[in-house]
Amino acid sequence: MGITLSRPGIYVPKNVLDNEFFESIIDTTDEWITKRSGIKERRISLEMGITEMGAIAAKRCLEREVITDQEINEVLFATNLHDDNKEFPSHASYVANQVNNPNATAYDVSAGCSGLVYAIRQAYNNMVAEPDLKRALVVGGERLTDMTDYSDRTNCFLFGDGAGAYLLERFDGEEGIINNVAGGRSDTGSVDFPYGELALENKIGLKLISDGAGSYNKKFSKQNYLVMNGKKVFEFAVPIMEHGVRKVLEGTDYDLEDVDAIIPHGANIRIINPAKNRLKRDGFNGEIYTNLEKYGNTSTASVPIAADEAFSKGIIGRGSLVINVAFGAGFTWGANLYRAR
Ligand code: UT7
Repeated sequence: MGITLSRPGIYVPKNVLDNEFFESIIDTTDEWITKRSGIKERRISLEMGITEMGAIAAKRCLEREVITDQEINEVLFATNLHDDNKEFPSHASYVANQVNNPNATAYDVSAGCSGLVYAIRQAYNNMVAEPDLKRALVVGGERLTDMTDYSDRTNCFLFGDGAGAYLLERFDGEEGIINNVAGGRSDTGSVDFPYGELALENKIGLKLISDGAGSYNKKFSKQNYLVMNGKKVFEFAVPIMEHGVRKVLEGTDYDLEDVDAIIPHGANIRIINPAKNRLKRDGFNGEIYTNLEKYGNTSTASVPIAADEAFSKGIIGRGSLVINVAFGAGFTWGANLYRAR
């Protein structure tokens, strides 16, 4: 018995914010942003919400899969829950209906940028525990622009919007998902940083608001915005990416040499490269694939957005041994090891 992970379906918004845009609103340069993060562009979705983007990604994923009876038993939606309070009751409930499976078990998962990797692990474990579960749909969707203060030059250039979705399905004779790992290193609850090094703060900030005609206006408003101690996040992220990859291989029949592709959470190329160099030194000769230069940090959506492109380019194909690895606010981390089908 195998439980497979499909090629993802994705949705990326049309509106592009390039580094020149940031040069026009904060004290920065294209050169600084590129050198410090690797990001050149990111997409913003001012008109379409998280649930809608997630539903489109989910439908695209299902369209590609050949499902005869259309039955999906579970929908998990990973997000950072910041869509103008529309998270109640859950994004997953909306998606379940949109994919014509209103009777599916549906709930959201919140674990920062590791949310989708956590949700894949959760859906897999549920399917192992409950043989009646045939299929689970796992979605990651974000509108980080909602929580970005475009006057905060320490982080506003990092984030973008988008969604991605995977189908987990039982398939006799397929190896499918081989292992999942997840962990945390909580940085919340301290006196100085009660909500952690990457948190929300209620303050006046600069928002981008849809003008209703495909573009946006800028407006100062008071709400919750992301605030981040970039250095602390960085210190956590660099070793944990490498750790996640090594940990998910532990106890399996595979070593670094067997892995064809690693899809890391796309936060910053300077977080990915050190992990890549150390893994290469220890025998990994596949590809670490990210497209963060085009989409910025899309949190839970970044792994599927990169994986979809890796499939298109033939970097991942049938039989490839693949690792998804992510870290996020909380702090959280996780990885999935699977054989692509
Ligand atoms: O999914 C998880 C999400 N978060 C992350 O992954 C973030 C992890 N952290 C990072 O990616 C990096 O910390 C950043 C890219 C956010 C910042 O890079 P850094 O190398 O840690 O820069 P820094 O904060 O140490 O700032 C270096 C200098 C400072 O000037 P001084 O003190 O050296 O004179 C800053 O004031 O760069 C200055 N600076 C900027 N300069 C131009 C800060 N922001 C900017 C800016 N443009 N936007």
